[in-house]
Amino acid sequence: MEPQATENVADALRRAAARLKQAGVGTPKLDAEVLLMKSLGWSREDLYRNPERALRDVQTQGFEELVSRRVRAEPVAYVTGSQEFWSLDFRVTPDVLIPRPETEHLVETVLEFLPSRRGPCRILEIGTGSGAVAVSLAKESARAEVWATDVSAPALEVARENAARHGLGDRIRWRRGDLFAPVRGLSGWFDVLVSNPPYVPSGEIAGLQRDVRDWEPALALDGGGDGMGFCRRLVRGGVRHLRAGGMLAVEVGAEQGADVSGLFQAQEKLHRVGVRRDYAGLPRVVTAERMPGV
Ligand SMILES: C[S@@+](CC[C@H](N)C(=O)[O-])C[C@H]1O[C@@H](n2cnc3c(N)ncnc32)[C@H](O)[C@@H]1O
Repeated sequence: MEPQATENVADALRRAAARLKQAGVGTPKLDAEVLLMKSLGWSREDLYRNPERALRDVQTQGFEELVSRRVRAEPVAYVTGSQEFWSLDFRVTPDVLIPRPETEHLVETVLEFLPSRRGPCRILEIGTGSGAVAVSLAKESARAEVWATDVSAPALEVARENAARHGLGDRIRWRRGDLFAPVRGLSGWFDVLVSNPPYVPSGEIAGLQRDVRDWEPALALDGGGDGMGFCRRLVRGGVRHLRAGGMLAVEVGAEQGADVSGLFQAQEKLHRVGVRRDYAGLPRVVTAERMPGV
């Protein structure tokens, strides 16, 4: 016997959105829709076309479970296990930062630079997390030789899985370790060094939104006292590992554009320091080139 219908799609969405709103979720309607799509295995179109469709008890229960996780501030991407970045679908778990749309500026910056380099183009990403940046770059550029590192072994597992998911399993060299330790010995080797470092000042972590503070890995967020500890180390290692004319491209917090530019300018082996802004005019990526012959 078919389980008795409890409520229809529209009612379930309304009830879940009200629950999420009460829990302080910023986008209750949207989140309710995404979670119902996930629990039914439906597209958005399915959802909009079938508001009257009755849900079976087991479906209502599955949906309730996902909504309860969101009520506890678990990010939607961890609940559904996926996040879109660069129009690709990435698996995400609480071991990796959820890739942000702002980080697509970092990918764009590198892709615009590549044509200026001849021959194979060696790219090193430090702190790859889900692998979103490394995978997007490998997908876009057939001649890129991509290396990606992270200090977190579970993060690298997720990254490898994402590369395989997009048919790039053999295109990226994954290395685990602290910053440049995994590529020690490859001095003057890379054409591009790219990173979205942990850049939140330690003292600001406690004030972050619950979803971020309680769920995303501290290792991916905490940039030390002034948020620039990782960045300083990136610059020092960067000049050693870049080829002449190679580019360093680093994502920055909205308040950090001037400080990171200053850091790059103070390094005598870097020049052509530039800042890329996002659509809201905020600094997002700071770049510099390795000078030849110094
Ligand atoms: C802000 S997340 C960026 C993740 C991913 N690249 C993205 O843009 O979504 C920073 C990453 O750096 C890694 N990380 C933190 N400290 C590190 C270290 N000392 N050496 C290498 N990676 C580190 C973290 O594990 C995390 O995956």
